Amino acid sequence: MKVIVLLGPPGSGKGTAAERLKERLGLDHVSTGDMLREAVRAGTPAGKEAERCMQAGELVADEIIMRLVEERMAAGGAQQRYLFDGFPRTVRQAELLESVLERRNGALERVLSLEAPRDVLVSRLTGRRTCRRCGTNFHVRNIPPRQPGICDACGGDLYQRPDDNEATILNRLAVYNRQTESLIARYASSGVLVHVATDKPLDEMVAELVAALDGPARAERRA
Ligand code: AP5
Repeated sequence: MKVIVLLGPPGSGKGTAAERLKERLGLDHVSTGDMLREAVRAGTPAGKEAERCMQAGELVADEIIMRLVEERMAAGGAQQRYLFDGFPRTVRQAELLESVLERRNGALERVLSLEAPRDVLVSRLTGRRTCRRCGTNFHVRNIPPRQPGICDACGGDLYQRPDDNEATILNRLAVYNRQTESLIARYASSGVLVHVATDKPLDEMVAELVAALDGPARAERRA
């Protein structure tokens, strides 16, 4: 079992990149945000607890996240190559992932740190529209759907995520800086990290991420 992690602040392009990478490279995409939104829709006990945190832009408890991730990994085989999007987000989650990999003879193959300036992140999030049916992301200006409000992929309705309002976005960015950013240093020292600037057109961003998966780890940012 191999694991690739997409690390990066809200709006850095993790979900958008994951959709393209999983198709191109045959990866098993695991988004903890999507799993939590599904649990909220289904009204499970974990979903009810997660909903309050998500609406405030705070992180959901590590125990809930690890339960969801472990259940998901237990369903996959030993040959699986996972693409984690938005997980791990705390030192505790990173430690627990390491112990799961150790138990299952797995390896952390690469951590891609997706990075973009703060004003780009805010404008991407305020303009994001998501398909209610298949989850594809669009942006009202950067990646508009062919027909406003309708998904190009499946014809479903597009909606704005409840946590994509300005106050919650600012808190999500602060929470990232406080609780997740320190993981970059942790992974730099384990020799698996590559920094990728994602403030560029979509095709270029995806090509750089593919190259980052093929090439060597690079703990320094490129000038
Ligand atoms: P989650 O759903 O993971 O949200 P997030 O991390 O805040 O990230 P986003 O989905 O907002 O951004 P993204 O980086 O995926 O950007 P996207 O590709 O969509 O988590 C939501 C909540 O769940 C958290 O706040 C927390 O409460 C909880 N949670 C989840 N995981 C957790 C965990 N492990 N532990 C604890 N709690 C957890 O792109 C954004 C926009 O930009 C889109 O409109 C897109 O079309 C556009 N765009 C993307 N790339 C480009 C490009 N190259 N050019 C132009 N536009 C682009």
